[in-house]
Amino acid sequence: MSYKPDLRWSDVTPRQLFLNRRQLIAGAAAFAASPALAAGFSTDEAPNSLEDISSYNNYYEFGYDKSDPASYAGGLKTSPWSVVVDGLVDKPGTYDLGDLIAGQPIEERIYRFRCVEAWSMVVPWQGFQLSGLLNKLGVKPGAKYVAFETLVRPEEMPGQTGGSIEWPYREGLRLDEAMNPLTILATGLYDQPIPNQNGAPIRLVVPWKYGFKSIKAIVKISLTDQKPQTTWNMLQPNEYGFYANVNPTVDHPRWSQASERMIGAGLFGGRKDTLMFNGYGDEVAGLYSGMDLAQEY
Ligand code: MTE
Repeated sequence: MSYKPDLRWSDVTPRQLFLNRRQLIAGAAAFAASPALAAGFSTDEAPNSLEDISSYNNYYEFGYDKSDPASYAGGLKTSPWSVVVDGLVDKPGTYDLGDLIAGQPIEERIYRFRCVEAWSMVVPWQGFQLSGLLNKLGVKPGAKYVAFETLVRPEEMPGQTGGSIEWPYREGLRLDEAMNPLTILATGLYDQPIPNQNGAPIRLVVPWKYGFKSIKAIVKISLTDQKPQTTWNMLQPNEYGFYANVNPTVDHPRWSQASERMIGAGLFGGRKDTLMFNGYGDEVAGLYSGMDLAQEY
């Protein structure tokens, strides 16, 4: 089986059902006093528009401006797509994307998304838990981290012909973070395949961490016993740590992390206080008990 980006989420979930469910969620939000997770793992906040989500992006493979990914990512060929799985895993190999993700239950997850640059959005992803895939691949004892790499293809990714980033873009998680049920690999957004600028055909989403952890266009997944190198940590270790947990009490050296600008909320009144772990503390705070999060940022 090969990955078919033309297979739409709406082929599986009728659009009206999707929209009705959205209204239900929005209705529930009116009664919710706190930003707790409403249905399952999803937030009860209203999602940003597809227009917001797909036109204001960070994807340095396509340039440094927020509009560059929308302008240039259309030329990226996302099919066929293969993913290398290696390291401390029972079933290493080079997998066609369709084969790799076959059998993983696709769910909708409406997640808050907090960028390290102090802006945020709410995004309705479709994806599956990374834990499901790792269990299918068989994690060997001794594995402590999961490392990810993005495609390197300068012919289609003009940002890769220059700049200060050493390609490929790399990210990593501790194994327990990777296995947390909130951590997903997303393949869809707003009941369509993910737009290229948002990381097609498959990207990580880790909602309690700053957005840079959520690596796009993944071509390699490695299970390791060593903490992997990560792109922003390699570039500016004093500004971007390995953990990158959203933390309003630890400022970035050049700006405050106490509040965030809500994209799409208008020029005025579009700020809110940033929540510890981006509001997902009930689910993930236990992963970091005993750690000094000001030191391990
Ligand atoms: N993944 C790759 N491969 N290259 C990138 O430049 N940028 C990161 C992350 N994943 C990036 C990446 C950053 S800084 C952010 S904030 C998010 O993607 C943005 O995701 P979005 O464009 O879907 O909002």
